[in-house]
Parts: sequence; C-alpha cells; structure tokens
Amino acid sequence: MSAVSDKKRITVPDEEIQRQREYTQLVRSIVDRRFESAPKAFVHTYGCQGNVSDGERLKGMLEEMGYELTEELSEADLVLYNTCAIREHAEDRVFGNVGALKSMKTANKEMKILLCGCMMQQEHVADKIRKSYPFVDIVFGTHVIHRLPEFLYTSLSKGKKVYELPECDGYITEELPVHRDSSYKAWLPVMYGCNNFCSYCIVPYVRGRERSRDPEVVIEEAKQLVAQGYKEITLLGQNVNSYGKYPDYGCNFAQLLRRLNDIEGDFIIRFMTSHPKDCTYELLDAMAECEKVAKHLHLPFQSGSNRVLDAMNRRYTREKYLGLLNYAYSVMPDLSVTSDVIVGFPGETYDEFRETVTLVEEAKFTSMYTFIYSPREGTVAAKLPDPISKEEKGKWFRELLDAQEKIAAKRTASMVGKTYRVLCESVSKGGLIEGRTQGNIIIEFPADTSVIGSFREVKVTESLTWILRGELQQ
Ligand code: 5AD
Ligand code: SF4
Repeated sequence: MSAVSDKKRITVPDEEIQRQREYTQLVRSIVDRRFESAPKAFVHTYGCQGNVSDGERLKGMLEEMGYELTEELSEADLVLYNTCAIREHAEDRVFGNVGALKSMKTANKEMKILLCGCMMQQEHVADKIRKSYPFVDIVFGTHVIHRLPEFLYTSLSKGKKVYELPECDGYITEELPVHRDSSYKAWLPVMYGCNNFCSYCIVPYVRGRERSRDPEVVIEEAKQLVAQGYKEITLLGQNVNSYGKYPDYGCNFAQLLRRLNDIEGDFIIRFMTSHPKDCTYELLDAMAECEKVAKHLHLPFQSGSNRVLDAMNRRYTREKYLGLLNYAYSVMPDLSVTSDVIVGFPGETYDEFRETVTLVEEAKFTSMYTFIYSPREGTVAAKLPDPISKEEKGKWFRELLDAQEKIAAKRTASMVGKTYRVLCESVSKGGLIEGRTQGNIIIEFPADTSVIGSFREVKVTESLTWILRGELQQ
C-alpha cells in the first residue's frame, strides 16, 4: 500500500476534527451560561513525555472550550488526570488521588472528574473505576483524546457518564490546539505507539501500533516553534529509531534529523527514546554531523545479561549494545549517554544481575533511570515465575545505584573547569538558576532570572555527583 493511502487510513479525518470543533462551541456556550467567570480546569499528567505532550493538547482543547487552567486543585471546576500504566506505583498514585476527589465532588456536585491515558486503556482498570469510583464522570482511552469536546458536551448537557475506551491500532490526530507548558522548550511527537512487545511492557497494549507523522508536517511544526522563539525541540516517540517505517514516507529518522537541522535559527534538537535494535550507525553519524542535535543519546539497555535480554524480547545482545556505544563515542567523543534498566526481571539470578552492573561500569552512563520490575497484567512476563523476594531485589537495586553513582561522580568531576553552553531553564529551590548542558546534565549557577529561556556559557566550578555548580561567563 502507498504511503498516501496508509496515511489516510491512520489520520483522523477532517470531518471528525470539524465535528469536534462544533462540540467545542457547544461546550463553550454551556460554560458561558453556567459560570459567571471562566471555570477552572486542573490537569495533571503522570508518566512519560509522550503523555505530557498529550496533556498539552488536552489543555489546549479545554482552553478553547472556555476553561481557564489552574495549578490549584482546590479551586477546580474540572479535574483531569492523564494517567500512566508503566508500573504499579504509577497506578497506585492515580487511584489514591482519584479517591481523594470524592469529598470535593460531594461538596460540589457540578464539578467534573475526567480520567484518561494509558491506565484507562486497560479493561481491569476501567472496571475498577466503574465499581469503586462511581463519582468519576468521564473516562476515555488513548485513541480518542481528540473527542474530549464531545465527551464533555455529553456530560455537561445530559449529565450522563461517559466511558469511551475503544481498542484499535491507533490514529494520528493533527491540528489539535496545544497549550505548551514552556515558552522555550517544546515537545514534538514524531511517532506514536510501539510494535516491540518487550515482554514486561504494557505500552504496546495501551498505545497501539507504531505510526509516524508525515515528515513535512513535523518539519513545518518545528519551523513554527523556532519562529515562536523555542530554543529546544525534543522529538518524541516510544522508539524514534523506527520513525518513517509505517507509513513509509521515504524518510527515516536519520534523514528527518538532517532535515530538521537545516532549519535556520538558534535552537537545539533532542530526541527520545531510542531502541538499541533499531539504532543505526547512520543515525549516530547524523547526530555527530548535525550541529543542532544535542550530543545526548537516551538508549535504554534494560539488562546486561543476554539470557535476560532474550526473555525480555529485546532482540539485541550485550555485545551489540556495547558495540553501538563504542561507535557512538568514537564519532562523538563528548557524547552523554543515559539509559533505562530493570532490576529483578522474573527469573533473573544474582549472577545475571551482576552482568547488568558490569555493563553499567563499561558503558559510563551520565545517568540512569533504574526500575524494579513491576508485573503488568496481560504482558508475557507477568506469567513467568518470579521467585526473588522484593527485599532481595531492593538490595540489588541499591548495589546498582552505588555502582552508577561512582561513575556519575567521576564524569561530573571531569567537567570542572570547563565551560559549557547551557539552556537556562528555571530557578532552583536554593534560588540559583538551573540549566542543562547539551549532555542533559543539570548545572546551577547564580544569575538574574532574565537569563531563563536563553543559551549562556557557564563555567563548571564544582561537581555534586549528579549535577554541577558553575558561574555565568559574560
Ligand atoms: N517494570 C519496571 N520497569 C518497566 N519499564 C517498562 N515496563 C516496566 C515494568 N513492567 C521501564 C523500562 C522502560 C522505562 C520507560 O520503564 O526501563 O525503558
Ligand atoms: Fe515498551 Fe519495549 Fe515499546 Fe519501549 S520499546 S515502549 S519498553 S515495548
């Protein structure tokens, strides 16, 4: 099938977008009639940047419907939790926070409670919400976020509960309004879904099949962001390395990076997440050659044991992973690599876990996101025997953190005395300006808040294991 007909099949049609615009106006007129001033919407997103990006679109739609966004839960007329299903802990937090809304709803019957995101896309979760949290008004899945205006209209006009959780391969929805949380850092999704079915992971079940946005649309959005003054654009996807495979636009991820790099302006490009099985030398060469692409690679390895990698269905070996890093460091000597790792996969032995530690020692990651395995209903790994106790896994976890801490400390210590170009982002708790190096390492330094949102040269004066202290260079 051609890219054009494939694209047509997975893109939400214009008529549907138009229908939602009509619902937007209907909600707006109800809201104008019912509230003296704009009602307040509290939106909270859990989980990954892909979800954060969805959250920005949900906020954009709410604003178009006449809601004003608030950070204060207590003053909200509408609460929307955009949930994450990656680990049990993430789900427990959502259930706790939804439970806490019951008293608010009792006090204010008009308040609307909405739940969406990956967690809702699982049948057992939706059933639990229905039975145990009957005060929730609207529950919708990951494939229908563009229909928020319709759901809200049904709830506001008819007082009916909405449960809309279709299972499908997923769509691409262009032209949704976006409320960007930052004015200098932007998320730019390039692909959605995942086809990898790593045996521990729920994502392919809740986010549908891999599908890429048209490169022309992505480039146009990037150009607009640069014109609006954005200084950092992060390309998002569960597996950005397989960008452009479905539909086949004749533009792979390395080519997309080169095209984005050609956009004029002072900005940097980041991307996440990469999968080692699809990470090519072509991509690493493109990274090395594109001056706007940050020399930071987030490349999750998950385990250092080939037996465990196979059981995880990762489809690469420890040797292939380390070979990729070797090549990457050879073409980008200053490269900063970060990674994800899971401790205590079902059946993992201590010796296998030690292979993870030795990989970490060889790989020299800047930092690592370390997770204890969490069984996810419906995945292949959830059915495997898991004899190692939680306490034992906790000990392994700390052993791994200790190993990584030594490596991180060495790396940050080696940066002292050098000057880096930093994007200034916010004010730290201690009142210093907080920025990030290209390698994604946080650096704090005294400066006026007017530097926020700009690139500055900062000299590193001190290393604090994971982060740096520095001074602004004029
Ligand atoms: N248990 C623990 N960690 C998980 N991850 C994904 N699924 C699980 C799970 N069931 C981790 C992986 C992935 C990161 C986003 O979350 O390391 O790269
Ligand atoms: Fe999950 Fe694997 Fe897909 Fe990442 S690549 S989202 S870990 S299934």
